Amino acid sequence: MHVCSIVGARPQFIKAAVVSRKLRTVADETLVHTGQHYDEALSDVFFDELDIPEPEFNLGVESDTHGRQTAKMVAAIEPVIEETDPDAILLYGDTNSTLAGAIVGSKREVAVAHVEAGLRSNNRSMPEEINRVLTDHASDLCFAPSRDAIENLTAEGITDGVFWTGDVMYDAILDARDRSVAQSTILDDLGLAEGEFILATVHRASNADARANLAAILDGLAAAPLPVVFPAHPRTVDRLQEYGLWERATGELEVIDPQGYLDFVRLLDAAERVATDSGGVQKEAFFLETRCVTLREETEWVETVDCGWNRLVGPERSSIREAVSADWQPESTPRPYGDGLAGQRIISLLQQRLADSEPDERL
Ligand code: UD1
Ligand code: UDP
Repeated sequence: MHVCSIVGARPQFIKAAVVSRKLRTVADETLVHTGQHYDEALSDVFFDELDIPEPEFNLGVESDTHGRQTAKMVAAIEPVIEETDPDAILLYGDTNSTLAGAIVGSKREVAVAHVEAGLRSNNRSMPEEINRVLTDHASDLCFAPSRDAIENLTAEGITDGVFWTGDVMYDAILDARDRSVAQSTILDDLGLAEGEFILATVHRASNADARANLAAILDGLAAAPLPVVFPAHPRTVDRLQEYGLWERATGELEVIDPQGYLDFVRLLDAAERVATDSGGVQKEAFFLETRCVTLREETEWVETVDCGWNRLVGPERSSIREAVSADWQPESTPRPYGDGLAGQRIISLLQQRLADSEPDERL
């Protein structure tokens, strides 16, 4: 079996880390990095820290408008598929790199397998939502992290090749949590005490690219009763500067560079709560039992909201202030995202689908 895995953005490196190393013990893998994220702090650090195999191809596409970026990726991925002739293309999540891989796979009639299939925010103005829908509809194998995700696929008529696997980010965090406690010095480095700070991240287009929303988020976070540590995505740094909000951000918040995975997990684990518009961080907060304030009006990770670990607040000053200050508590701690074996399940399912052989005993 030969699988071509396509990654390009920070969360995809973390997800691929769970699958790639194990996959290579039973199959051939060609790892392709589209180059969507290229800063050291958004890319190389994860390959080093998580021992992800060196990509066989780096397409160097970098930042551009969505259409051009996706088109450049499609044009660069196709010859790789032609040259390496894989049995399947393995895709993660909902970025433009995901969509580009799905387009090439379906055009070249290579089986497309999608990890994190079936998630829906039901907000079509979100670029990621379009990427999710199109990728799922172009996929031969949909690996769903939750039962809800399967229902979403069923509602869109996607029923063949759909499998519940659990969530690879749960696998990742189970591995990283203890390692981060043992290895990370970030709390000491920043002079932070456990439970005495709030962590915040913002990078979603609807927040970062709208001055009023970014300003409201800054206002809301600045009103928090604890110091706010803010590892800033480069997109958000650019916008804060462009909108004349940089001085205010650095005055009110502890703005730091994007962190490596172990340091970030340590911060998230130790934070009193987190405020974020990230998809992955909402889930990781839930896994680590850190309360989460999601700076969006909807989420695709609905289970985290239903049980009360996650509160949705739009980019509105007073609701953010209330959510980061009030002492609200979760109602229950279910485990809707599997058992930490999602990566192994994905590999077994790929084997079953692509080869006549039984799943490898080593898994
Ligand atoms: C992308 C994904 C988003 C994902 C996020 C993970 C899409 C549509 N968006 O958003 O789903 O949640 O990655 O972090 O695929 N930039 C740098 N250095 C880099 C990368 C980007 O400075 O290494 C800056 C550039 O100014 C760029 C901007 O960030 O224009 C946005 O980058 P882009 O990859 O388009 O989107 P993200 O916001 O990172
Ligand atoms: N993350 C990280 N360092 C940071 C911020 C986030 O390692 O400074 C990790 C985080 O633990 C999670 C992933 O990046 O695993 C989430 O990525 P991001 O928020 O960029 O994207 P999304 O999940 O929203 O697509």
